[in-house]
Parts: sequence; structure tokens; C-alpha cells
Amino acid sequence: MTVLSKTESIKNTPAQNPLKLKRIHHVELWVGNAKQSAFYYRKAFGFSQMAYVGLETGERSHTSYAMAEGKAQIVLTSPSELDHPANEFMKKHGDGVRDIALEVPDADAAFHEAVRRGAKPFYEPKIMKDEYGSVCRAAVHTYGDVIHSLISNIDYKGPFLPGYKVASAPAESVGILRIDHIVGNVELGKMRLWADWYSDVFGFTRFITFDDKDISTEYSALMSIVMSDDSHSVKFPINEPANGRNKSQIQEYLDCNSGPGVQHVALACKDVAETVSKLRANGIEFLSVPASYYDALPERIGDILTAEESQRVRELGILVDKDEEGHLLQIFTKPVEDRPTLFYEIIERRGSRGFGKGNFKALFESIEREQALRGNL
Ligand code: FE2
Repeated sequence: MTVLSKTESIKNTPAQNPLKLKRIHHVELWVGNAKQSAFYYRKAFGFSQMAYVGLETGERSHTSYAMAEGKAQIVLTSPSELDHPANEFMKKHGDGVRDIALEVPDADAAFHEAVRRGAKPFYEPKIMKDEYGSVCRAAVHTYGDVIHSLISNIDYKGPFLPGYKVASAPAESVGILRIDHIVGNVELGKMRLWADWYSDVFGFTRFITFDDKDISTEYSALMSIVMSDDSHSVKFPINEPANGRNKSQIQEYLDCNSGPGVQHVALACKDVAETVSKLRANGIEFLSVPASYYDALPERIGDILTAEESQRVRELGILVDKDEEGHLLQIFTKPVEDRPTLFYEIIERRGSRGFGKGNFKALFESIEREQALRGNL
């Protein structure tokens, strides 16, 4: 696998960090019933509930639950009022990711620099304050109806963000450590435009490119560019559909999501077998992998796994890939809502910074079996 050598920038600019992005602060999902979603993410995915805003805290327009597992933080928000924009969002997209919020040292400066570099403003910087202290927050639009909030802590020491009250409901962790990457699906012909957007606005560079020769099966194809910050701590792959004999899985997403949006959030863990065992026991469903994949695995990856590990990955349906830097183990859930839109990836990295290119074919054949069942292939 040679893809890691293709780290040149889209526009051949060196990696830089003009907004001084520190990390993904949280991912916010707009959902029909935040109370039930919080229960699902707590009981099935092991996210502990930390904080809450809603009617009881004086917030009349929406309810939000802030959840965390390791360093991965998610917010689940439902509208309480008819004119809340989440209603229109859900009518169009169903439940899905609204905000990939990023932590910066100075949200005011980051917002103005992002806008100067071509980002479309969503809202101007504002100070949000409560008895625990204050943060500065602003937001810009990205693909589809997704936004990037820019958040900087001023002197906030509370449970999540100003306005939230402590509402602790611990979960039994499944071992998730952090968000590894977040993938966006955009329309045919728009991938390069959005890759350039992340290059122009965030100073990201192209980490890897996959074209339809890498990612195609008999029926389906897609293209992908992985955009990354200079430290590789924030990675946003962008996919677009490519022409295959039948409908690309990306086109199915775009049809069912009524446009672009977040396709999957990858969650990093320390011991994928342990995490996947727990998730399976909790009822999470994963894409199935044919036995032939495991029969062919030793030839592809050599002896990097012990006999015991090989048996374990086969039993649990975990995919394995290797490159020059090391290897990785990954698995993909089925979509977590009725529309075939958002799903999750669980990934354990053992040196590899790649994305499992060697698994694409096996994986997509599995996705296509599901697509065929939905009558969308
Ligand atoms: Fe991924």
C-alpha cells in the first residue's frame, strides 16, 4: 500500500493551522427524541451522560444531553418549539450530525480568520456565560446543513458548556477513547471543492486520496480525499459517489439524506475486540464480513496477528489492514437510524494512520448486500 506517500496538499500549500484548531470539542446530533437517543448512546455505546439543558434549566427552545466516553463528546438535541431549525433539518435529513464543534484558543479570532478565508458565517462570536464561567462561541457553515462551531474557553469550569446543568447518569464504558475521524458525503463533482475548502479555510492538507480504482466493486464506487490538520489530530475524509454499474453507496446516502452530510464518525478504542464484544452484547449491529475475507487475510497481512487474535477478529467480524507504518483493526456499524445515513466506525490503530484501504472491497460488498435488501442497488 503506497497511499501514505500521497500527502501533498490539494494546492501544494504546507500544513498550517491558521485557526489554531486544538481538537474536536464535540459532535452535536439533531434528533427526534433526545431523551431516547441519550438512553441508546448510554446503554449501547457506553457514553455517560454529563449535563443537560431543557425546560427544567429554563431553556424553552430545545433539550440537549451532553454525553462523553473517554475524550469523545457528543450532544443530542431535540427541538421543543415549532420554529426551531432542527424541525426543518430532521424533515429533510432525519436524525443526523448538525455540528462538528472545534476547540480553538480564541473563537473570535478563529471565526474572523475563517470568514476571511472564505467560510460562510453562521453566527458571529458571542460570549456565553453562567455561574460556572464563560466561553466564546461562533459558527461557520460547511457542506450540507452541517456547521462547525468554534469554541474557546475563557474561564468556564462547569459540567460541559454554559447553560448546562449537571445531570450525571454514568454508563458502563465500552472502551471508546476519542473521535478518530469524521467523514462527509458530498455530491458528485463536489469532493474537490470541499477538500479545497478545508485547505483554504482550515489550512488542512490532503493526507490520502482514494480514487475509484481503489474503491470500487462490480456495482458501486466512490472517491475520497482525507483532509487533515498539521498534527493529524483532526481528520475529515470527504467522499463523493463514482460511477459503477449500479448506485453508489454514497449516492444512496445523498438520496436518503436529501443532500450532503456526515456519513460516519470513527471512534478510536484501545482494544477493538473488547469494545466490539461489549457493543455486540449491547445490541449494536455491525456489517457482516464473508468468511472468504478471513480465509484471504493471512496472505494480505502476513503474521501480524497471533493465532488467538486471528480467531477473535473472525468471530467478531473485525477487519484488519496494514501499511508501511503499522496496522489497524476496524469495524462498521449498520446505520443507527431507519434511513441508511449515519453510522459509526470502531477503530484500533497499531501504528497505522491509514483508513483501511485494503478492506474497502470486502466492506463495500457487504454494504451492497444491505443496499440490495433495501431495494437501493
Ligand atoms: Fe472511516
